[in-house]
Amino acid sequence: MKFINTLKGENTKVPPIWIMRQAGRYLPEYRNIRQTADNFIAFCLDSEKASEVTLQPIRRYGFDAAIIFSDILLVPWAMKRNVQFIPGTGPKLVTYAENPEIYQPDSVELETLYAPISKAIALTREKLDAETALIGFSGAPWTLLTYMVEGGSSRDFAESRQLIYSDLKQCRYIIDVLVEQIVGFLAIQAKAGADVLMLFDSWSGAVPAEFRTELVIAPHKKIIESLRQQNIHQPVIAFPKGLGEGLIAYTNAVDIDAVALDHMTDIGWAHSNIRPELTFQGNIDPLSLVAGGQQMRNSIDSVLDIMQDRPHIFNLGHGVVPHTPPEHVAELVDYVRAR
Ligand code: CP3
Repeated sequence: MKFINTLKGENTKVPPIWIMRQAGRYLPEYRNIRQTADNFIAFCLDSEKASEVTLQPIRRYGFDAAIIFSDILLVPWAMKRNVQFIPGTGPKLVTYAENPEIYQPDSVELETLYAPISKAIALTREKLDAETALIGFSGAPWTLLTYMVEGGSSRDFAESRQLIYSDLKQCRYIIDVLVEQIVGFLAIQAKAGADVLMLFDSWSGAVPAEFRTELVIAPHKKIIESLRQQNIHQPVIAFPKGLGEGLIAYTNAVDIDAVALDHMTDIGWAHSNIRPELTFQGNIDPLSLVAGGQQMRNSIDSVLDIMQDRPHIFNLGHGVVPHTPPEHVAELVDYVRAR
């Protein structure tokens, strides 16, 4: 598999390509199936539907990797944080202030709770061809902590940052519990047939710099070490979004197979400052894809030129947004592959 070879350090002229949130609302065929389920969690836990929407972008664009359709909030869901998705508002959970008791399902309970995801992975792996990788994923501890503490999405993560200063012991405890829950979630996906694992730390940029080692680097290290101890050897892609200059310390410390760069990171700077054998994934702005045309081709060229002497997986710097014209995605894939 070209995708796996690139994660192992091979540099090909045409990079493998997929896009974050490639299964989603910008696709009419996704919206059609989404309509048949009223509740988003139930949709994620419907193995046939989850598998079908995972395959939709592969049929349309022939990406080098599929990402199993589920959500990072399934970990707090398993921890009984009353996860709901409110149309037009986004996720809503019970907040830490409302319920500071942290429930931890054990491995037996996790097997039962996540059985539909295992089934979706097995079904999908069976239908994908041998050249297309299947990615399983989880949120990372800090990002999941923010949803659990704030009770949903947040602009400034004030409650989560406040917890660091007012009760660091409790903050550490929640992170430790999440490390175990995330390892459980990823291990189940690996055993079900995921070829690659990805860790989304979408809000790691909100961690104050002096706490990065403790709240981002150390927990990520522990997750990967625990997986390896359990004989789970799938390559890992990490997305520590918003770390900026912190990426240097992060990539020196964490034994990942690729780092996904956000679009705020200058990929030339990253190439000069991050260990040269590490595979990069990324990183054009999702809004460049919305606009399409010559400026998008310029953005692509600039990334590909800089990535000539480094193993690279082409992607966006964050998820594709719902108002993206599907034909622009086709143009992106064609343009990258025609180089
Ligand atoms: O195609 C894929 O990438 C696979 C599926 C996937 C989803 N969410 C499906 C989804 C993945 C990998 C995620 C990850 C995820 N979920 C992240 C990390 C990546 C990132 O973008 O930073 C985060 C922070 C979440 C949390 C989450 N899930 C939010 C904030 C929302 C609401 C967004 C909104 O605009 O309403 C979701 C819901 C969600 N997860 C949707 C999809 C396709 C949209 C909901 C719908 O279809 O009704």
